[in-house]
Amino acid sequence: MLTLSEPTLLRSQNLIDGLWRDAGLGARLAVTDPATAEAFANVADSDAGDARLAADAAAAAFPAWSRRPARERAQLLKRWHALILDHQEDLARIISTEQGKPLKEARGEVQYGASYVEWFAEEATRICGDIVAEAVPGRKLLVLKEPVGVVAAITPWNFPLAMIARKIAPALAAGCTVVAKPAEDTPLTALALAWLAQQAGMPAGVVNIVTASREHTPGVVDAWLADSRVRKVTFTGSTPVGKHLARESAATLKKLSLELGGNAPFIVFDDADLDAAVDGLMASKFRNGGQTCVCPNRVYVHDTVHDDFVERLARRVGALHVGPATEDAAQIGPMINARAVDKIARHVEDAVSRGARVVTGGKRVRSADGPYYYAPTVLVDATPAMELSCEETFGPVAPIFRFRDEAEVIRDANDTPFGLAAYFYSNDIRRIWRVAQALETGMVGINEGAIAAEAAPFGGVKESGYGREGSRHGLDDYMHTKYLCQGQLG
Ligand code: SIN
Repeated sequence: MLTLSEPTLLRSQNLIDGLWRDAGLGARLAVTDPATAEAFANVADSDAGDARLAADAAAAAFPAWSRRPARERAQLLKRWHALILDHQEDLARIISTEQGKPLKEARGEVQYGASYVEWFAEEATRICGDIVAEAVPGRKLLVLKEPVGVVAAITPWNFPLAMIARKIAPALAAGCTVVAKPAEDTPLTALALAWLAQQAGMPAGVVNIVTASREHTPGVVDAWLADSRVRKVTFTGSTPVGKHLARESAATLKKLSLELGGNAPFIVFDDADLDAAVDGLMASKFRNGGQTCVCPNRVYVHDTVHDDFVERLARRVGALHVGPATEDAAQIGPMINARAVDKIARHVEDAVSRGARVVTGGKRVRSADGPYYYAPTVLVDATPAMELSCEETFGPVAPIFRFRDEAEVIRDANDTPFGLAAYFYSNDIRRIWRVAQALETGMVGINEGAIAAEAAPFGGVKESGYGREGSRHGLDDYMHTKYLCQGQLG
């Protein structure tokens, strides 16, 4: 049962042009608590017509919003930031209930998401162009940064607050207006966030949110892809969907930011501090039950420290408490849905059938609470022939691969079409620079498992996508560069 101290945060309609509205056809989408697999709320199940109305509103709001002085946009973002923090506990409860993240982590997510809003509020006032040295006497060469226009943000379920905040905040800071569609599993957090934006004084049409079921999502997204007024799409999710967006937005050549699938390697060299490496792996692998794009999917441990590392890791993993997000002791909540937990079980079964050994976990648990729980798992003797080595498991499973030399492990780590994050532990400064440069990923954690921060550029290379979120680069992705050449000044 979800009870909030501010019950109006629980919205069930779309926000379009400053008004809360049902879907045009009146359809509803049930929202499920993954802890029990039971529906506890419902929201609008929108279609292409609703998506077009949202785009109309965002396009109409764009001229005035983009002309507002940066300081005013920044002030509105700061007010939004303050309201998010004021409602931290309610927002965390919504996140936990619709996504299954333990409450403690959900509170952390609110802080994390809010940090992007604050960061971009500050960055809004630092947007600058250039004045280029004159090439010809009597001419001035100037470079301006301008907002791209209407932005479509399509966000995932694994961080229902942080991902939408880190897309909407830079868009608004740059002077863009937004149409957004949160994941069908977790629409409530996005709607609550939009309601807070409205309370902060965001003008009508600047932020529009449309919710839709899995069946209706293609209609909503395709309406935005076909709309020439939508100048940018920002998406976090799977690589196949990212490729679809890239193909379908080609007709109107939209700017794209795609934060797609990962298959992160986590390498423990023989000179590593093993306790620090275990801490780093616990933080990066088991956060959000392993349902994180940047979480390690393949753990490579040097032969000479392998057994020691596995023993230390298994002790920690075996002690993790699995349970509903609302249980104070819970460290691993339910997985998001049946498809997710089935995939984890399939990966573990496939690995075991190909020679992996379960050290701890390896099975579904707490079935009396609900069907989506999976025990935190350590597998050894993992090999590249196993499904979990080439596909993201997106669950609390750490498969350990044994390696013997640096060149071999770098080759294996890079042997994937994906390139989002990588991690390694070593105390040899020469190796640190060699390996950091050799890894083909957008982000590298060196002796560190928690790498994401509002001040850092988050994003991948290869089939993990392009564009960056967070940092000054995250703001640049919502602007284009305009060159002015003024003559006859001599
Ligand atoms: C993600 O899973 O894509 C986001 C994770 C993060 O921001 O740390």
